[in-house]
Amino acid sequence: MIKNIFLLIVAFSYCSNLSAQKFDDLAQTPPMGWNSWNKFGCDVSEKLIMEIADEMVSSGMKAAGYEYVVIDDCWQVGRDENGEIMVDEERFPNGMKYLADYIHSKGLKFGIYSCAGIYTCQGRPGGRGNEFQDARTYARWGVDYLKYDWCYATGKDIKTAGSSQEHAKSSYTTMRDAIYAAGRPIVFSICDWGFQQPWEWGKDVGHLWRTYWDIKDRWASLLIIFDKQKGLEKYAGPGHWNDPDMLEVGNGGMTNEEYKTHFSLWCMLAAPLITGNDIRTMSTETKEILTNKEIIALDQDTLGKQGFCYRDNGDYEIWIKELGNNERAVCLLNRSDEIKNVQVDFDVLLKVNSTYWKLKPYKLEDYKVRDLWEHKELNTEKSTQYIDITPHSVKVFRYIKK
Ligand code: GLA
Repeated sequence: MIKNIFLLIVAFSYCSNLSAQKFDDLAQTPPMGWNSWNKFGCDVSEKLIMEIADEMVSSGMKAAGYEYVVIDDCWQVGRDENGEIMVDEERFPNGMKYLADYIHSKGLKFGIYSCAGIYTCQGRPGGRGNEFQDARTYARWGVDYLKYDWCYATGKDIKTAGSSQEHAKSSYTTMRDAIYAAGRPIVFSICDWGFQQPWEWGKDVGHLWRTYWDIKDRWASLLIIFDKQKGLEKYAGPGHWNDPDMLEVGNGGMTNEEYKTHFSLWCMLAAPLITGNDIRTMSTETKEILTNKEIIALDQDTLGKQGFCYRDNGDYEIWIKELGNNERAVCLLNRSDEIKNVQVDFDVLLKVNSTYWKLKPYKLEDYKVRDLWEHKELNTEKSTQYIDITPHSVKVFRYIKK
């Protein structure tokens, strides 16, 4: 009898362990894709999403690595008598499975949005209490990516930013388990705006987690968010990324130079690259930024190290990102409104250490140094050089093994 009880306990804990995990081999590099929120807000529809999917392919975005097409808030209108989530039929007349099939037929992946609260941030039905049913529905539709928000997570108050870390962790863990139980590998994007320090608990729960409040299409917003990323580098790695929020590149509130900076900084941070512009009508400049393969390669480097701030001189910062093959990227950032002429020693930058991990010192003579926006190599016979950086701009270099 005692032996049988023991066996039952062992069997039970084995089974519960099986469901208590996330899908492990997803998002080995930061996810890349497109999301409707930054540009379209609640104005989402089947027509829009299909056109975006078409354009992802024809514009070269897919070839550059963008993969997920994600519908954010406002696709859902209620629950039926069985608790099934109901799609807005006027905007999505053929339902989500049809849309997912279309996106998949283009070689892309399909993402959707819900919320750990009783409502979403726009007051649509949230996932709380329906996690397992919703996860099964998403799996049936063919969802590949779920962004899970944090409004109304403690009841009828939209502002749940101040609730406890335990509450956030257990809410997101429930959805993680629901996804796993539904059996379809889905990238799980935690969106508690960094308020419950998800970097401390998110690794076993999701594949990415927001580190701060929503981005706005303004230079000042960019800098506020960017400053919050300092020190978080030790929490990121393959399958678990800090998410400083989606991209605003091309949405019109910043200059092209500022968008170049935005994109470069996100790549230095190994951030998810989720574009948020209307790619159907994007300018050549926007497209050139979003498809700069040399910059994207920093983000997608398989070593999976987030960049760190090596020097903070106020208006001028130096960031370093370790790459595979003992290579390295350096980003010089001019935050000021004036052009800066800075002295850079390319040899010294190969010998610096981060706060969190020991870096090997390398020799400059073993490397070529390439400017990733000019797309050309530097002459580094002299290791110390003076470089101009225009206002709100960056210089990004890659040390490439000879
Ligand atoms: C929150 C999220 C945003 C977006 C909106 C949708 O504010 O942080 O990214 O998803 O909700 O309502």
